[in-house]
Amino acid sequence: MTDTPENANKPANMQWGGRFAGGPSAIMQDINASIGFDRKLWRQDIRGSRAHAAMLATIGLLTREDEHAIDAGLEGIAGEIEAGSFAFDVALEDIHMNIEARLTDRIGEAGKRLHTARSRNDQVATDFRLWVRDAIDGLSAQIADTMQALARRAADHAADPMPGFTHLQTAQPVTFGHHMLAYVEMLDRDRGRLADCRRRLNACPLGSAALAGTSFPIDRRMTAAALGFDRPTSNSLDAVSDRDFAMEFLSAAAISAVHLSRLAEEIVIWCSAPYRFIRLSDAFTTGSSIMPQKRNPDAAELVRAKTGRVTGALVALLTVMKGLPLAYAKDMQEDKEPVFDAAEAWALSLAATAGMVRDMTPDTVRMRSFAGSGFATATDLADWLVRVPRLPFRSAHHVTGRLVAMAEARGIDLAELSLADMQGVEPGITADIFSVLTVEASVASRTSYGGTAPANVAEQAARWLAVLA
Ligand code: ARG
Repeated sequence: MTDTPENANKPANMQWGGRFAGGPSAIMQDINASIGFDRKLWRQDIRGSRAHAAMLATIGLLTREDEHAIDAGLEGIAGEIEAGSFAFDVALEDIHMNIEARLTDRIGEAGKRLHTARSRNDQVATDFRLWVRDAIDGLSAQIADTMQALARRAADHAADPMPGFTHLQTAQPVTFGHHMLAYVEMLDRDRGRLADCRRRLNACPLGSAALAGTSFPIDRRMTAAALGFDRPTSNSLDAVSDRDFAMEFLSAAAISAVHLSRLAEEIVIWCSAPYRFIRLSDAFTTGSSIMPQKRNPDAAELVRAKTGRVTGALVALLTVMKGLPLAYAKDMQEDKEPVFDAAEAWALSLAATAGMVRDMTPDTVRMRSFAGSGFATATDLADWLVRVPRLPFRSAHHVTGRLVAMAEARGIDLAELSLADMQGVEPGITADIFSVLTVEASVASRTSYGGTAPANVAEQAARWLAVLA
């Protein structure tokens, strides 16, 4: 050993120290140990070990007495961790060895038999899949809850007009309900991506052992079924070195965080003094220590910002995995923290988003008053020219442009131009044109499938509420 003297008196790791004369240097221990973060996997690790022990007993590699001792020992360890009395030891590197060493402390020889026909490589791959699967289930439920909050708002405001924007310039009136449902669609795709990730994730690596499989006559279908997996993985090299499930999870997280950041940005804009489309209560805002009038939408700003952590986590893991030769390499220990951090940020962002959506008070009168500003019904005028005097759309667009310029020069709305003024530009115009220039007429006319007509929005909101009930 060429290590510094400080390691000389330390014992070698008791789990694998047979060929080691001394312990690791302090720096080696610091860079190598994962117990500081992978202790989060303790439930999954115990679950996996119990399934493994039951299988080993079934095929006769463990006696039933040993299996029961292992089972009781692991249950006892779960109790210790739950109670906060378990002494995590950094010298034991990770959660797998911490639990196994403690098991042997508690039950003796039988504990030493548990690691038959498995390796930490298939163990960690199994534990981590179980953890990500649990996270997927929790996050899917949270996404559904956020969708429900949005769909309720959509049902309540199916007919309330607001300005619709492109380039953040007033474009055409839409309803607030329609706007809410746009986010329901996005979140539903996020949920779909998680479901898809879960389907591919749900194969069990346990029994792949270190990389090549094992010489013991194990029953991989049994452990897979006991852990709720659809099937065992079918290539041992792939099984211990695959982290696609984590990369897919983070991809889904990154896309969803982007969606949440877009809504968060709109909330920030809508809350601002010049807009005042919505108001958030004290529950989702903070004050300023210097400006007494301030009510800041911090929760929305932080949801917007958490996107950085989540996309960062995806890039971190993609970069860890890039260029890794088969099979397991210690690099892969760096897979967990980005996933834990992103899952936490995503869950918090969803909770804050659902909270804000339920909390906000839309100012429907104010939104309505801006819905018609900026000549928002100009397209309705052009469409009328196509429908009634049957102008080609391009000509109708030109005529409308001249009318907008005329109204703009006089500082009035399109509907305030006189019929004579309009006929001066296009003789085919009749008084009927005024019927399409209101905001209400504009949104009501958008009856094409997926359009903003209040009847459509009410129907879509009801459909989503039924799906989410
Ligand atoms: N702590 C390790 C990890 O998280 C467990 C697997 C270690 N395997 C090994 N052969 N060193 O990746």
